Amino acid sequence: MDNQIFTELEGTFADKFGHQPAHHFFSPGRVNLIGEHTDYNGGHVFPAAITIGTFGVASSREDNLVKVYSLNFPDQGVVTFDINDEEKLAGNAWPNFIKGLLIELRAEGYSFDHGFELAVNGTIPTASGLSSSSSLELLISVVLDRLFALDVPRLTMVQVSQRDENHYIGVQTGIMDQFAIGFGEAEKAIYLDTNTLEYELVPAIFGDNVIVIMNTNKPRALTESKYDERVAQTKEALARLQTKLDIQNLGELDKATFDANTDLIDDELLIKRGRHAVYENIRAKEAVAALKANDLVLFGQLINDSHKSLKDDYEVTGIELDTLAETAQQVPGVLGARMTGAGFGGTAIALVNKDEVAHLEAIVAAKYEEVVGYAPSFYVAEIGDGAKALD
Ligand code: GLA
Repeated sequence: MDNQIFTELEGTFADKFGHQPAHHFFSPGRVNLIGEHTDYNGGHVFPAAITIGTFGVASSREDNLVKVYSLNFPDQGVVTFDINDEEKLAGNAWPNFIKGLLIELRAEGYSFDHGFELAVNGTIPTASGLSSSSSLELLISVVLDRLFALDVPRLTMVQVSQRDENHYIGVQTGIMDQFAIGFGEAEKAIYLDTNTLEYELVPAIFGDNVIVIMNTNKPRALTESKYDERVAQTKEALARLQTKLDIQNLGELDKATFDANTDLIDDELLIKRGRHAVYENIRAKEAVAALKANDLVLFGQLINDSHKSLKDDYEVTGIELDTLAETAQQVPGVLGARMTGAGFGGTAIALVNKDEVAHLEAIVAAKYEEVVGYAPSFYVAEIGDGAKALD
């Protein structure tokens, strides 16, 4: 599969740039097992890199031109710019991710004294919530690292990728996605404290169970504004708590302290948003402990609880994700199911006995088509390595 993708990509590269590429790269997507909408609140997350992702082939040039082509955006054609030109390209031109990264890396003291050619092909379904944009950011990071022999530390790659998204692209995401894609390892999930950036690779061993990704196939809506609204709401809840409590972020609170101080927030909606951030952080910690103790039943229950909280308190699910997760939760052999990622559309995951996968897919697909009116799609997730140069 990978070989086939690279063969096609080499053909595209040769067709666009007239010679074979010198280097091959891969950057994964991610699923988040639990700890959702906690990463911009100093809480814990538990994501893993997956084997579907973004493939790239590249070569250096001797002049200062950057020439890039994406099989995902063929209508944009070969985009060409001078490596020193920092002006944003019009529209949603995908090479803006490259421009933003060059700016962030220059700010870190790295320099770029020649151009390059790059062809990419992403296999993450669009609008799936599996982090195609972070996958592209880290792909470009490892490309630049290799072509310019920069030797950028991993954490810096992750941080400049997040800043690229926050500053140049303009979405206020947390660090979870870039971190998972930068630090992922096969068969391990990443238990990350987003406040300290301390992390632990935890074996993602689920016995006879697998993770099934269930894609809503909901067309991309303008979800960035709703995402930024949740960021603002939790910030406001925190600010109100800080009038009495000595805390830097919601991730520092236990449930009892939060519950005892909701009068400080004094707004039903903001209380719900804050409660999700606090409770979900605790749930992530409990879930990791359950997985380490091989208590998959408890792990699954916490996954179900996470979905309910994202639905009722955080209100980021919607009919598509609720139908997928709640239907899956009822299927025999399913330990737990929840939305993953930002929400609103995108995907849900289910932890299910491997012998029940086909049954799960049949039941969920039938219910989803009845309620939503079109078909979902399914993939069994394989947990793979983080972004890397392959040669
Ligand atoms: C998106 C963001 C992440 C995180 C999740 C929700 O994927 O990019 O930083 O906030 O949503 O957990």
